[in-house]
Amino acid sequence: MSLTYDPDTGLAPLEFAVTRNLAAKSAAEREQLLADPAFGTTFTDHMIDICWSVGGGWHRPRVQPYGPLALDPAAAVLHYGQEIFEGIKAYRHADGSIHTFRPDQNGMRMQRSARRMALPELPVAYFVQSLRELIAVDGDWVPSGEDQTLYLRPFMFAKEAFLGVRPANKAGYYLIASPVGGYFKGGAKPVSIWLSEEYSRAGKGGTGAAKTGGNYASSLLPQAQAYEEGCDQVVFLDADRNVEELGGMNVVFVYKDGTIVTPQSDSILEGITRDSILQLAADRGHEVVGRSVSLDEWRSGVASGDIVEVFACGTAAVIAPIGVLKGHNFIDEQPIGPLAMSLREELTDIQYGRREDPHGWMLRLDA
Ligand code: PLP
Ligand code: COI
Repeated sequence: MSLTYDPDTGLAPLEFAVTRNLAAKSAAEREQLLADPAFGTTFTDHMIDICWSVGGGWHRPRVQPYGPLALDPAAAVLHYGQEIFEGIKAYRHADGSIHTFRPDQNGMRMQRSARRMALPELPVAYFVQSLRELIAVDGDWVPSGEDQTLYLRPFMFAKEAFLGVRPANKAGYYLIASPVGGYFKGGAKPVSIWLSEEYSRAGKGGTGAAKTGGNYASSLLPQAQAYEEGCDQVVFLDADRNVEELGGMNVVFVYKDGTIVTPQSDSILEGITRDSILQLAADRGHEVVGRSVSLDEWRSGVASGDIVEVFACGTAAVIAPIGVLKGHNFIDEQPIGPLAMSLREELTDIQYGRREDPHGWMLRLDA
């Protein structure tokens, strides 16, 4: 994929002011931090910061030392949660080059989230440029160990100091980065899922399809229950007891005739990992269907042998087979099959440059 600036807007690249971090980690300190990074706990030396206002549009693009943000205590995000984010990774290839995966998709999803949360839409070209600018100063932070990546976290929030309830007139876009290994402690081992029956994640017409902080805030209590129940993650149902998704991953069902089904509704986050895996599965000849899947269909399908694999997928965790579904009165062991892990291998081989990229998904960031 080549970086194309939006032909409709003809946008020129932003000119970033770069302030180097004089307290940047030494190479030795960095190497130590990269050796075995826990998910999302270590951050690189720099960050991106772009301002937006109703009158001035996107302005003051900066690359600056990573550090605390100064916010007015009345900033709208602190009161009404007007915030969105993205998750995307940078991969180190064997020749040392640095690549990312389908950044246009994340950029467009961030625009959709922005629309829903009444935030400004960052042009996709600026989104992609921000990834390049950060890699230009922090490229050495992209780890090279197995399953390691630099997790990139773009986010945007309302920073106008104003307590009235209306879309803020000022916002900021930021990008931070964190070297990561696997999302789950046990590696790509099957995960256990707690079925949340008393809490839902989203509703019709709500914000379920937007990547906005509030969705995650409301998932924390059920997620805490999942941990209490000895489970790794929580799965949510809609009002009709159809399966939606996990707190941070989509769900995919594999049927014994090879059909692959994933829940589809306007209250589910449209995962880019899911879209990519389903494309790879379709390339292999699988029929791929997006439709409602009820909890009953899941449980009876597993019991009858109609469903032969269930897995979860997302950028942070890639693909994790689901090994157990646990509810208040039941524990259903889930069938484990080869497809989840073979799709995981195919996808990560493309991402790490170990295999052809037939769909043009990869974008080099350091050249
Ligand atoms: N669903 C939720 C709620 C998520 O937070 C994520 C992670 O980003 C996903 C699904 C998977 O999306 P993607 O594959 O684009 O990372
Ligand atoms: C991701 O997979 O990128 C996510 O955002 C999921 C989670 C870390 C919130």
